[in-house]
Amino acid sequence: MSLQIPVTDDTTPLFSASLISPDVLSQLPEGYTCRPLQRGDYAKGFLDVLRVLTTVGDVSEEAWNDRYEWLSHHNDAYFLLCILDPSSNIVGTGALIVERKFIHNLGLVGHIEDIAVAKDQQGKKLGLRIIQALDYVAEKVGCYKSILDCSEANEGFYVKCGFKRAGLEMAHYY
Ligand code: ACO
Repeated sequence: MSLQIPVTDDTTPLFSASLISPDVLSQLPEGYTCRPLQRGDYAKGFLDVLRVLTTVGDVSEEAWNDRYEWLSHHNDAYFLLCILDPSSNIVGTGALIVERKFIHNLGLVGHIEDIAVAKDQQGKKLGLRIIQALDYVAEKVGCYKSILDCSEANEGFYVKCGFKRAGLEMAHYY
């Protein structure tokens, strides 16, 4: 299945909005929404949200646009999504990267990466909704499991999201 949507403007979604879980949308706080990344999210606080996770660096808009263009040509493997507050500021984000294997009969494995919720928005179940949204994408595109790496301090969060320790990784089987 090709999910390619060419970048035509700042509001074209990175991938099809039909991959956003209706259940997640209905469970967000009033006025909040969840949608695929867009090129225009540079100006909506996307990188600032990521700064709660780690160092982002000084990414210019031109550099962002170049990276976004690359992602848009790999949008059957890179699924980055955002949560927006009622003022359309980005307050949460997460990514699913789909790995195509030879083993397990050409199995697809989802890698959950770069989960971040703005400091003043934590504790509202937005992190949980991001994970549920990424799980939905993973299942829809045919992953048999999703895995992630996290610190001991975040293990409890991922357990609440339904993950379990699997060796040194957390896993979800579909
Ligand atoms: N340890 C244990 N339980 C936790 C933790 C934690 N660190 N964080 C949240 N929880 C619990 C909550 O209490 C809640 O439990 P409840 O259902 O009993 O009420 C449940 O997990 C869901 O919590 P949310 O409100 O959805 O969590 P939040 O929106 O605050 O997001 C997150 C959690 C993403 C870890 C956020 O705190 C954050 O952005 N932290 C900084 C960045 C970070 O560490 N990201 C994860 C990196 S790992 C990776 O990206 C794969």
